[in-house]
Amino acid sequence: MSLAPIFLNAKSASYRLIAVSQQTIKIEMNYMPTTSHKMGPLKGKIFAPGDKSISHRSLILGAMAGGETNITGLLEGADIMATAEAMNQLGAGVERIKKGEWIIQGCGEAGLISPSEPIDCGNAGTGVRLLMGAISGYKISATFKGDTSLSSRPMARVLNPLKQMGIEYNCDEGETLPATIISSGDLKAIDYVSPHASAQVKSAILLAGVNTTGVTSITEHTLSRDHSENMLKAFGATINVEPQGQGQKVSIKGPVTLKGTNINIPGDPSSAAFPIVAAIITPGSDILVQNVMMNPTRTGLFTTLTEMGAYLRADNYRTSGGEIIADIHVKYSQLNGVIVPKERAPSMIDEYPILAVAAAYAKGTTTMRGISEMRVKESDRINATFELLAGNGVDVKEYPDGLLVKGGSVIGGGDTVLTHHDHRIAMSALILGINSENPIKIDDSSMIATSFPTFFTSMAEIGAKIEVPQ
Ligand code: S3P
Repeated sequence: MSLAPIFLNAKSASYRLIAVSQQTIKIEMNYMPTTSHKMGPLKGKIFAPGDKSISHRSLILGAMAGGETNITGLLEGADIMATAEAMNQLGAGVERIKKGEWIIQGCGEAGLISPSEPIDCGNAGTGVRLLMGAISGYKISATFKGDTSLSSRPMARVLNPLKQMGIEYNCDEGETLPATIISSGDLKAIDYVSPHASAQVKSAILLAGVNTTGVTSITEHTLSRDHSENMLKAFGATINVEPQGQGQKVSIKGPVTLKGTNINIPGDPSSAAFPIVAAIITPGSDILVQNVMMNPTRTGLFTTLTEMGAYLRADNYRTSGGEIIADIHVKYSQLNGVIVPKERAPSMIDEYPILAVAAAYAKGTTTMRGISEMRVKESDRINATFELLAGNGVDVKEYPDGLLVKGGSVIGGGDTVLTHHDHRIAMSALILGINSENPIKIDDSSMIATSFPTFFTSMAEIGAKIEVPQ
């Protein structure tokens, strides 16, 4: 079976890698409206790109550790490149050897240093929040800034506990970026109960705890992704986890001497979600997505799609970088609506926009509640998802804490979706359009490069028709 023609001309891509120094690269993103069209079945094999969460952590811990850290499979997306540049500014040696292969010369005992310029985290909430925690354990002063989307996101959730540990900070009244952290490096261990089910908050506190004398703990009421805990252990830290009801208390005993290590980054289930849903909703499709991380703190979408009746078969299980990975075989499936339990939210928090697209093609109603956290992601994702579905003829209702999608009718499409500089809204809208009656256009696709720089080539490889105008 031959694949559909590739419509994306590499030269017209809305982003490109550019060298900023001999060591690191930067991704230049150019505003680019993009359209997806109805196509025949999707077929073929693609490879999931490196996991964004684990990529950030590998650069940050590699820079804090003593000695060399060798990374393979690093996601070369704009968010990660911003973190790589930040680690350079903070004194680590950061070198790109070849695609996905990076070497970090960590600061070790000498410690991270104050950067001479503000650190620009771009669009990356994970980057800035983890960095705030990581630098707090050193004698340092650093200013963080970001793009328009990041500059409107709440930072108090990280700055408050770090203040309890002893940092000082300045930012505007809304506790948004730009923000300056000043730390004496002499922090106090705290026992923090987090009001948010957020791995970013947990990670910031644990990273600050690395250089804090005593036991620093964080209690979370629902389990969030555990990549920081896993990776801290790989760098030599002792992490204690005490289950508490549906949640847990995670502790680190500091100070810890982190030692550089080798890390192979597994594929990102949050990125794999887009081709997977595309195949499920497109009649006749049959694809294989290889190298997908199956950490249970990240696979809530796969559980939900399976409950909805999707053909999803994970096979060829193996481990990579301390995480379980598998290849996922996906076929077109007739879905039925479900109620998504709110306790599942942390394991699929980034996947609700694409789940809502799948729900639009499912028979019956899909209810997604208890997810008000979505309002403070790269955009207000509850509202952005509502607008993307409603504007293209889907019956959808917005609640303060979620969405209800009545699926199963023919989807007209034809709208231009506002992405609000949010990569997951952009990709979700393009996937909705590969099966709607009329093409769906998005105002800008450049920010897809933050998390899934190979999105266009991967989708073209399996036969999707997504056009960036010449
Ligand atoms: C992330 C945690 C999640 C997620 C984000 C990545 C991480 O945020 O939305 O894309 O790498 O820790 P919260 O844990 O704050 O919900």
